[in-house]
Amino acid sequence: MGKIAIYPGSFDPITNGHVDIIERAQKLFDNVIVSILHNPAKNALFTVEERIDLIETSLKGMKNVTVQSFNGLLVDFAEQVNADVIIRGMRAVSDFDNEFHMAMMNRRLNRKIQTVFLMTGMRWVFTSSSGIKEVAAFGGSVEGIVPPYVEQKLKEKY
Ligand code: PNS
Repeated sequence: MGKIAIYPGSFDPITNGHVDIIERAQKLFDNVIVSILHNPAKNALFTVEERIDLIETSLKGMKNVTVQSFNGLLVDFAEQVNADVIIRGMRAVSDFDNEFHMAMMNRRLNRKIQTVFLMTGMRWVFTSSSGIKEVAAFGGSVEGIVPPYVEQKLKEKY
């Protein structure tokens, strides 16, 4: 079956920074499952179904990458899909604190699953879904920092 990696997140919406991490992960692992947290408590802009569509359309043609949603604990989902690895993207040192705590908690919950951090390209260090939503909400351009399909769907939302 090969090495399976899950790449979890909110992806509300997917950005070019996420795509960059997926491209890197896809070269390292046999299967990459982009895993969207379904969290009804969080006020998301896009529904889970819309987020799946945004990711699948943005990644069209990319081999060995699939998209799934999950709820509950990430390590439980990892077991369910036989994942060996959790991928997280790291932009700058400011991400480290939160990521370190999450990785340690996940290790405590399940020692078999390793967290692997991949660095985004320098072009994307300032890119975040929340920043993109704020810019788009006020009519600013997000061209080039999200896939074209996401840019179009953001325009429809705002
Ligand atoms: O894109 P995000 O919001 O940074 O992703 C965070 C995510 C979804 C990876 C994280 O919140 C998560 O794994 N949630 C599931 C609940 C869980 O397993 N929590 C324990 C780890 S601290």
